[in-house]
Amino acid sequence: MGEKILKIKKEASKQLSEAKDLQMLQETFYKYLGRKAELNIILKELKKLPPEKKPIIGKMVNETKRYLLALYEERASLFKKQKEKGEKIDFSLPANIPPLASKHPLSLITEEIVSSFRRIGFSIEEGKEIDTEFYNFEALNIPLEHPSRDAFDTFYIDEKSIPPDGKYKYLLRSHTSPSQIHVLQNKELPARFIVPGRVYRPDNMDASHSFMFSQIEGFYVDRTVTFAHLKGTLLFFAKDIFGKEVSLRFRPHFFPFTEPSVEVDISCFLCKGEGCSVCKKTGFIEILGAGMIHPRVLQSCGINPEEWKGFAFGMGIDRIAMLKFGINDIRLFYENDLRFLENFL
Ligand code: PHE
Repeated sequence: MGEKILKIKKEASKQLSEAKDLQMLQETFYKYLGRKAELNIILKELKKLPPEKKPIIGKMVNETKRYLLALYEERASLFKKQKEKGEKIDFSLPANIPPLASKHPLSLITEEIVSSFRRIGFSIEEGKEIDTEFYNFEALNIPLEHPSRDAFDTFYIDEKSIPPDGKYKYLLRSHTSPSQIHVLQNKELPARFIVPGRVYRPDNMDASHSFMFSQIEGFYVDRTVTFAHLKGTLLFFAKDIFGKEVSLRFRPHFFPFTEPSVEVDISCFLCKGEGCSVCKKTGFIEILGAGMIHPRVLQSCGINPEEWKGFAFGMGIDRIAMLKFGINDIRLFYENDLRFLENFL
């Protein structure tokens, strides 16, 4: 009930302050303070409330009424004065334009990457930042007691808060890969999705590490998906985002949730492969992890791996934004310093 009164107060004050003329002001007045207005109905029905609530609610309603009445009177006298003086609002006066906000550099890059993948048929989905051990590990073929979990060091929410399934604890997801499971459990096949979002790992902060960073997960499941589709998709993305002349390098790697797995580098778009400080003289920059979705992962989404195949990839957005904007400290993305953010207007 208290919340309802507060809501009425907020709504009514907004409408009273925004009324453009006396008539509109009066109409708003009757709507909120007239005989049939909700506040008066609450007063009339006060007796139905439990005795300990009556004085509190009664007082709240009366105070709200007094407040709204004062607001009404103030605005009404302003309109009346204006009328007496014959003043009118001058619409030709230049408007007061509030300063425009700028988009965050991570949002800019995310939008660019997402729209690139949309053009080749990917849909966008959202994952969950708070998830369970089941989605972050187990369903991704990372057994709870397995050392490969160390690579995804994790923040737990609270040792005591065990989710309804009883076994798996709540955590802040340490990568966006759990979104593969959430989406594939719920969508019809074939499925082609891109999922951007924040992830968390207990890392010491320095210029290239943050305990919170951003990733984009992508995956495609269909009857005939092959590694060649993965290569083609990633090459399209890399050329679209970094320029036509870039090439990709695939290096064998291990992820529990993909088989085979790779790490993917792009040729350095700054020095064109000659070797510079950004690519540490190697001519290549690592940008993502990828592979063919492990059959066990498909199974944990209720998908028959004999019939369906898929690829998946995950990339760190901060790193890509740092490369593209020439930023050398990841912490700048999360400190909300306006002097930094204003550069992206
Ligand atoms: N989840 C992996 C990471 O955070 C990246 C990845 C995603 C690798 C999908 C393969 C497939 O490092």
